[in-house]
Amino acid sequence: MHSIRKYNFGAGPATLPTSVLEEVKEELLDWKGRGLSVLEISHRTDEYTEIAVEAEQDFRDLLSIPSTYAVLFTHGGATLQNSAVPLNLSSPAGEVSYVNSGHWARLSIEEAKKYTNVKIAASSEEENFSSFPPQSTWELSDKQDYIHITPNETIGGIALRKVEKEDIPIVADFSSSILSEYVDIESFGLLYGGAQKNIGPAGLGFVIVDKELLGSAQETTPSPMNYFKLDESSSMYNTPPTFSWYVAGKVFKWLKGKGGVKAIGQVNERKAKKLYEFIDKSDFYSNKIEESSRSIMNIPFLLEKEELNSKFLTDSFNNGLLALKGHRSVGGMRASIYNAMPEEGVDALIEFMKLFEKENL
Ligand SMILES: Cc1ncc(COP(=O)(O)O)c(C=O)c1O
Repeated sequence: MHSIRKYNFGAGPATLPTSVLEEVKEELLDWKGRGLSVLEISHRTDEYTEIAVEAEQDFRDLLSIPSTYAVLFTHGGATLQNSAVPLNLSSPAGEVSYVNSGHWARLSIEEAKKYTNVKIAASSEEENFSSFPPQSTWELSDKQDYIHITPNETIGGIALRKVEKEDIPIVADFSSSILSEYVDIESFGLLYGGAQKNIGPAGLGFVIVDKELLGSAQETTPSPMNYFKLDESSSMYNTPPTFSWYVAGKVFKWLKGKGGVKAIGQVNERKAKKLYEFIDKSDFYSNKIEESSRSIMNIPFLLEKEELNSKFLTDSFNNGLLALKGHRSVGGMRASIYNAMPEEGVDALIEFMKLFEKENL
């Protein structure tokens, strides 16, 4: 472990690669020897354009994004896209479909209802969101403008990791799983999310959209949310979140240095597998999610002896393992193990959990 930094299992804003933070610190006062900070330069300068273009290219390379897709860097995190998506892709008289897979899907559904007519294609609410509704059960119709999914439910810890193309565009909130493993971009009409887990600072968002879907936004769509206008202006319709975009660029470079998405995907798979295996073998801890729907990014778990929850949190904190408290709607614990969480962090967590079990049986 880095001498100062602890293992941060928070769901977001989440841990970032230490080397990226060090580079940012190094450059903060005097960026590239110019005597000013990157925070202080105009987004219209050649220097900043270079950062922006390079970050987009690295993001495209990492995800093999075809040139027929626009890549947008946006304001307002993932949540603003909950309104931007129906405003850009549907209409007050139109119809869209949503899969209800938990907390974040529900918020997207509620927002979309303001701008279009929403049908629920499938839901796992009745089984308390213990699995992701299989794609074969989604009820869709050709007249729908899109189907929306949340392939990784950050709070519930359920995921849909393989998605097949549908006859209507699939729109997916990839906030907590973008860049964590291979995805076939062309299976989707649009992918979006907030940056604050696998990309960089909170507030920044990304949209990857099939260009064929651009150009028919509702008239009332605020201009900075209009995907066509954002694409036309290279995401600079107004001043973009310049610092966040710059940090994102560094995270993309870091990930390229790690061998890219397929390589980190293998590490992520291994990290998640060892934690699930440990939990499953134990009678002291449990994870209630159906195996085929388990997230490799967010792993919620319960202590059988609930009365030990606060002791677990205090002891883990004192052992340098931070932010393990589960979301209040689920209770228990949650380990978010995004790209920047090193495998040693997961090993340290498992070691701590073993010891805690032994001492508190
Ligand atoms: C899957 C998912 N969607 C949306 C959001 C909301 O993101 P933001 O707060 O950046 O708008 C989150 C935040 O954790 C999330 O995990």
